[in-house]
This record gives sequence, structure tokens and C-alpha cells, in this order.
Amino acid sequence: MRLAVARVRELLDDAVARLSAAGVASPRVDAEWLLADALGVRRGALPAELARVPAPVTAERYEASIRRRIERVPLQHIIGTQAFRDITVRVSADALVPRPETELLVSWALELLPAAGAPLVIDVGTGSGCLAGALASERRDLTVVALDASPAAAAVARGNIAALGLGDRVTVVVSDLFASLAPIPADLIVSNPPYMPSRVVDTLAPEITDHEPRCAIDGGPDGLGVIRRLVADAPRWLRPDAALVLETAGGEQADVVMKLMADAGFADIETRRDLPGVNRFVAGRRPCAGFAGAIESWGEAAERADRPAERRKGGEAPLRGA
Ligand SMILES: C[S@@+](CC[C@H](N)C(=O)[O-])C[C@H]1O[C@@H](n2cnc3c(N)ncnc32)[C@H](O)[C@@H]1O
Repeated sequence: MRLAVARVRELLDDAVARLSAAGVASPRVDAEWLLADALGVRRGALPAELARVPAPVTAERYEASIRRRIERVPLQHIIGTQAFRDITVRVSADALVPRPETELLVSWALELLPAAGAPLVIDVGTGSGCLAGALASERRDLTVVALDASPAAAAVARGNIAALGLGDRVTVVVSDLFASLAPIPADLIVSNPPYMPSRVVDTLAPEITDHEPRCAIDGGPDGLGVIRRLVADAPRWLRPDAALVLETAGGEQADVVMKLMADAGFADIETRRDLPGVNRFVAGRRPCAGFAGAIESWGEAAERADRPAERRKGGEAPLRGA
């Protein structure tokens, strides 16, 4: 501990100065979150704590957290959680920390779903499971199949889905895009795929480059490596008129993704802006007719995968070769 017998206010001010010197972008906010975490109180309750002398164990805990933050470990990795819409997920170095802008992807996804009929959603690149979890928690009749190529990320997602009590409606599957999944007819595909060009990834803040999984961020030389395959494959897993909605890097990349979707036969292609006004999200619908993709019913796909169709209620996805 740097300050002997210091009051909470002094510990906080000292932490803000050190985080600022270390180049942390929001030193006071981060110092306050970590202080609230160490004290075991809400951040809003901190003013009532400032004049107190903390217990030595609390001061030591705070000091350890501040040291990690000075090493540019993300705030959420230190605290261990991130709020997303109306859920909270556990996060670690194995899965991307959910970003605030991605909450808007949930809003649009909910709008694009049919109003009734217990829809099926596929979440491609689920990471922490934040999209799958938020969707299933906000729409109680949804079934979600959440895919991720990273077994470590899938394990994080499974833990979060179980902790949220959503395991009966959300199934997490390790899969390179749809490769592990029989062609089930989903009512919506949602994805926040890796979309940064590789050369840009290397220029990002140390919190990202040193502590977040590269496979969650790096979209290859032009950022479109995963998106290109996803857009081309998605129609086979969509019902006629069902939508694909994606987060992109925004701007020019959103324009390119619109073109990729048009080339793949999508109709009603639109973009939406994020809160700072970047044209970030792209959605389109699989045409009702004239599309030659192979579509089975969930029941057929489940039978083919030797899984009873009624397991849909139990949240099990028909897997290829299962
Ligand atoms: C940008 S992160 C999004 C995580 C989470 N959905 C979110 O919004 O916070 C992209 C995720 O896609 C996964 N991913 C990358 N390539 C993939 C692929 N070919 N197939 C499936 N998942 C992939 C990564 O492991 C990572 O978890």
C-alpha cells in the first residue's frame, strides 16, 4: 500500500493520479469502479465512504486492482463482470468484453423477429454469450443457438447462460460459423463478428491488443474475412423472409457489407447508426421465393442429427454428425 493509514478519499485521489500517468483513458471513473468493487458497495454509495479509513484488507485489495489497471488489464477483467442490456455477464481474457454499441444490435434484432411463434435465433460468434443471453432474457419465447469457433469463448458463454438460468433455451456450440450445425431454418441470424483489419488491430489500446482474444477482433487483411463467409453461408440457415443482422466496423465497411448481402441474394438491406452516429449495423432479409438454398425444418434437421425434434424445447441444437 502506498499510503499508510490513508482515508478512502486519499486512496482514490492517489489512484486517479497513477492511472492518469499510466495513460488510462478514464482514470477517475475506473478508480471509482475499482474502489466500489474493493469496498463491496455500489459506485453511487462512494461519497458516504470517502472520509472513512478502510480496513487494511480492503486497502490492499484496492491497491492490487489499481496495479493491474496500471498494467492496462481491462477494468472488466479486474472486476470480472460487464453489464449488458438487462443482464450481467462474467468476462475474462477468453472472450471479448461486450461493448455498449452492441446493445443496439439487440434492439434491432428484437425488431426483426416475428412477433409470435417461438422464434429460433442463431448468434454467430457468441463470445461471452451477451447477445444470446440478452435476446433470450428479453424475449421469453426465444430459442437461441449460440456458435463460437473458440472453445474457450464457448466455455465462458456456457457459464454465463447457465448463471442466467437460460440453459433450457440457449445452446452454445463450438463451431466455425455454421459448420457444426445442420441447416435448420432460423427466424433470425445475429452476429457481431471480428471485423477489424489486421493492421488496425496492432494499433489499438493495450487493453485490447494485450488482453482480449485476437480471434474476436481480427477480421483479416481487409477486416471482412469472417463477414464474407458468414454472409455467403447465412441464407442456408434462414427461413424465407428471415433476417440477418450484423455489427460492422461502420462507415465504408458497412457499405461493402450491404453489397456482399445484395450479392448473396438478400433483400430489404438497411443500415443503422450507433450512438456516436457511425453507420455501423447492417440487416437484410432472405427473399421469400426464388432462393435455392437447402432448408429443412427444425424437426427434419433434428431427426437427421439423431436428436428428437422436441429437444428444441430443451435448448438442444441439431448438430452435424451428432
Ligand atoms: C467481436 S467478438 C463478439 C462477441 C460477442 N458476440 C459480443 O458481441 O460481445 C467475435 C466472436 O466471434 C468468434 N469467431 C471468430 N471467428 C469465428 C468463426 N469463424 N466462427 C465462429 N465464431 C467465430 C470469436 O471467437 C469471438 O468470440
